[in-house]
Amino acid sequence: MESKKGFLVMLAISLVFVTWGIVVKAGDVPDVITIKSSIYEKHRKSPVEFTHKKHAEDYKIACTECHHVYKDGKNVWKEGDPVQKCEECHNDPTTKGLKKLPPEQQKRNLELAFHNNCVGCHKKLKKENKDTKAPTTCKQCHPKKKK
Ligand code: HEC
Ligand code: HEC
Ligand code: HEC
Ligand code: HEC
Repeated sequence: MESKKGFLVMLAISLVFVTWGIVVKAGDVPDVITIKSSIYEKHRKSPVEFTHKKHAEDYKIACTECHHVYKDGKNVWKEGDPVQKCEECHNDPTTKGLKKLPPEQQKRNLELAFHNNCVGCHKKLKKENKDTKAPTTCKQCHPKKKK
């Protein structure tokens, strides 16, 4: 009986720590994130080194340019809220013939989500200033062919 109570107390304590860990983690983003999503059986391109901190701090891009949770068509995500991986919602792994996919599937497609976000912004920047260092060619983001 006593040991069961002790076990429950331990469980309660560890739950507090687990929750605390998740909250703390939200403020504790790595400076550089290697983007290699897990939904691809085989990657066709190399992983992408993404300078998260530089984008948020040096380039002064609002978190909400990249992070969102839509409710009634509006982005209700705000700084401090938990962040899900893109692949948790954009979970369609197709990498070929993307333009021919039905619109609903395009919205859920992971490669399009990343390219529309990353390359979309970079292309706009390039139009405004052709000397921008924001990469728009495949090799600049995917330096190697595979893995
Ligand atoms: C601004 C950076 C950027 C540029 C430029 C870019 N990509 Fe990507 N691409 C990404 C990111 C980020 C992902 C997501 C990687 C993941 O989910 O593992 C991705 C994913 C992919 C994927 C699906 C994942 C895989 O490895 O199979 C393919 C295929 C791909 N890109 C091909 C290309 C091609 C071809 C070009 C040039 C026409 C290109 N990309 C240009 C950033 C970029
Ligand atoms: C230019 C785009 C961009 C901006 C701006 C940005 N993020 Fe991110 N963030 C990402 C991407 C991409 C990931 C990785 C997602 C994935 O792997 O699916 C990420 C991951 C995260 C994670 C999870 C890290 C982990 O290790 O689990 C947190 C937390 C986060 N971002 C918070 C923020 C906050 C807070 C801001 C604003 C101060 C911000 N981000 C600005 C693109 C961005
Ligand atoms: C909680 C679920 C969720 C997460 C996590 C999420 N998205 Fe989305 N995303 C959506 C929904 C829903 C839409 C709106 C689709 C529509 O227009 O109906 C959307 C729209 C988009 C769009 C605009 C539509 C398009 O393809 O042009 C882009 C780009 C995008 N997301 C990229 C990302 C990236 C990059 C990440 C990770 C940093 C991410 N999303 C994380 C749910 C999510
Ligand atoms: C809203 C605009 C915006 C979005 C979204 C964005 N970037 Fe950028 N990116 C920039 C700007 C601004 C620079 C710096 C340009 C300069 O210094 O001339 C940059 C530079 C870069 C560079 C080269 C310099 C460095 O810091 O490494 C890489 C690589 C890069 N971005 C990758 C990505 C990837 C991958 C994503 C998507 C996960 C992404 N970017 C999303 C605006 C954006």
